[in-house]
Amino acid sequence: MPSTATTTSPRASPRRRASRAAARAPADVVSVRAVRRGDLAQVIAIDATVTGLVKQNYWRSVYRRYGIGGKDQRHFLVAVADGRIVGFLIGEVRDWEFGSPPCGWVFAIDVHPDARQHGVGTRLLEAISALFRRAGVTRLRTMLASDNTLILSFFRSQGMMAGSLIPLEMSLE
Ligand SMILES: CC(C)(COP(=O)(O)OP(=O)(O)OC[C@H]1O[C@@H](n2cnc3c(N)ncnc32)[C@H](O)[C@@H]1OP(=O)(O)O)[C@@H](O)C(=O)NCCC(=O)NCCS
Repeated sequence: MPSTATTTSPRASPRRRASRAAARAPADVVSVRAVRRGDLAQVIAIDATVTGLVKQNYWRSVYRRYGIGGKDQRHFLVAVADGRIVGFLIGEVRDWEFGSPPCGWVFAIDVHPDARQHGVGTRLLEAISALFRRAGVTRLRTMLASDNTLILSFFRSQGMMAGSLIPLEMSLE
């Protein structure tokens, strides 16, 4: 796999340098586990690098619903390298939505920019797929912005194809 081009700034703090080193770790030294409260600050920071928004309240709410309150249906997973969070994924089993038998939905995935293209996203998707299978689910679904070619390339690489559902929307203003 290609290596990342990120270099360590000589002025970076030791904590920041450790964070970057962890972020560059290849997938074989990455572990995937359920999120913990202490991970939230790093999850929020990774999300902010992608969206440009720091959404503290949103992530606390997601943690309550998918972290501690998740049980077997909802999952909030993090990828960890050298004690640092390098990526996360959120998904849930949705029962009989639009007449569809229970299926596994992935609705958020982010890998720290310094850790990408080392298999971390693949490890996260494999982990939630295993949890969904354990729950008896045999189909995985997701939704993506039509102009997000990166996420499309990633999901295609995992075997995902256009599905049978069509998203519709309208303005309520
Ligand atoms: C998409 C994302 C999760 C991929 O994570 P990753 O750890 O880099 O993925 P992997 O290393 O497991 O890559 C698996 C495959 O995805 C595809 N892929 C990954 N990065 C790619 C890129 N930059 N360009 C094209 N294809 C890419 C490749 O097919 C790759 O397989 P390969 O390495 O054998 O070529 C990561 O780039 C990311 O977080 N992007 C931002 C996500 C986002 O926009 N989130 C908001 C919507 S939820």
